[in-house]
Amino acid sequence: MDFRTQSASLDALAGVNADALILLVGGDTVPAGLDASVAAALKDAIKLGDFELKAGKTLVLQRVAGVKAPRLVLAAIGKPSVKAARAAVLAAVTALKSRGAAHAAVAFAGIEGLSESLVEQTVLAAAEALYLYRNTKPSAAKPAALDKLTLLADKADAKTVKTGLARGEAIAAGIAVAREAANLPPNYATPTYLAEQTKALGRSHGIKVEVLDQKAVEKLGMGSFLSVAKGSDEPLRFIVARYEGAAKTVAPVVLVGKGITFDSGGISLKPGAGMDEMKFDMGGAASVLGTLRAVAELKPKLNLVVIIAACENMPSARAVKPGDVVTSMSGQTIEILNTDAEGRLILCDALTYAERFKPAVVVDVATLTGACVIALGGVRSGMYASDDELAASLSAAGEAALDPCWRMPLDDEYEEGLKSNFADVANVAGREGGSITAAKFLQRFASKYRWGHLDIAGTAWKGGGAKGSTGRPVGLLTHFVLSQAR
Ligand code: BES
Ligand code: MN
Ligand code: ZN
Repeated sequence: MDFRTQSASLDALAGVNADALILLVGGDTVPAGLDASVAAALKDAIKLGDFELKAGKTLVLQRVAGVKAPRLVLAAIGKPSVKAARAAVLAAVTALKSRGAAHAAVAFAGIEGLSESLVEQTVLAAAEALYLYRNTKPSAAKPAALDKLTLLADKADAKTVKTGLARGEAIAAGIAVAREAANLPPNYATPTYLAEQTKALGRSHGIKVEVLDQKAVEKLGMGSFLSVAKGSDEPLRFIVARYEGAAKTVAPVVLVGKGITFDSGGISLKPGAGMDEMKFDMGGAASVLGTLRAVAELKPKLNLVVIIAACENMPSARAVKPGDVVTSMSGQTIEILNTDAEGRLILCDALTYAERFKPAVVVDVATLTGACVIALGGVRSGMYASDDELAASLSAAGEAALDPCWRMPLDDEYEEGLKSNFADVANVAGREGGSITAAKFLQRFASKYRWGHLDIAGTAWKGGGAKGSTGRPVGLLTHFVLSQAR
């Protein structure tokens, strides 16, 4: 998809050259200052009862008298907000995508003016509407003809539009990386594949990538990570990528992603129904990889390290068993009471590894607990932070990106259930507060730096008819990383 901008005022829309003119209208009255032909078509459609100025309504008109573009797409925003505008763009582009239009021009009316955020979300909504998984489905629908979008804006808004487009395009590219990796079946998206994808990103974007295999991980003493991987014949990978946008002396932001490419539960086997969705258990890894791509394109003046711990969680005669005690890289021993609580077992070693970067902040991202899905559903990711300032930054990034999270507590009382008679800590507590006790487990390994944790079990993918990766929280993470530039 090609995004660009062109200066055009609302009273000159009829002359715009494109296969389709998309007019997004805010408010509940026909805005003043609109081009006469376009305004006449809009008023007539309302009068005929074919269109209403209510959020969610769209109408495609053809060959409107006096309008150069052969298609006029009307889309109502309702009460103006960036969120409502994003939904309207999504609806308008969805209405166009099965049609022949290759180039759409987009104009906003009845809103306060363009903001960077509105422009960014316009790009993201268009990209979302047009995304189609095709990789392992030769019979998938043909990609939409639509491949060029021009945002019409006043000259005065040129700088706003330029910044918003750049951010939107970078995040859209990052989301595409994350969605594609997560949607890919688990026999394709193996730990080795994730490593290859990261290396490819390194080559195309000038990022240093280091991939550690089992031997190297053994040498580092990552007994916890190794214990999860050993039930599978698929080799593990520990992936470290470094974007260097500032002097070496500047402490980096570190993102850590859970890369379980398939979570069967291991010996604590999951029930069969819906188990296929556990291919999405590398959603954290996919999102930090997507964020790396977005950041590498935006080139902020900061250092970013992305760490992915990747393996499968499988049952076998060699698999870790309930009751086994393993020694983590930190030296803490862990009694594995449930092999299905594997995410925290791979992340704890990655969190210890992160210490070597003397990070300014570390944020781990994981499809960690079913309990988080129960707590927050698919709307907000669970967010944990070691201090209020970091929590505020993560919250603000989520709001700005329309990729929201919600802070959860870390009271010490939640750690009670993790006590073990046979090791320093157990890998599970009871059912109650399951997302929080998982975070408390991780916190024990993240004491040397400012630490944040995102439980994205509810937000990384959708089930049902729309089954597929959402690419979240690439938007949140990209905004967060950008906010850390000094
Ligand atoms: N990957 C799952 C978490 C998950 C479950 C995400 C369902 C999305 C939907 C994780 O590895 C897991 O199995 N967690 C267990 C922890 C439990 C054994 C303490 C869970 O949530 O049931
Ligand atoms: Mn599990
Ligand atoms: Zn898992």
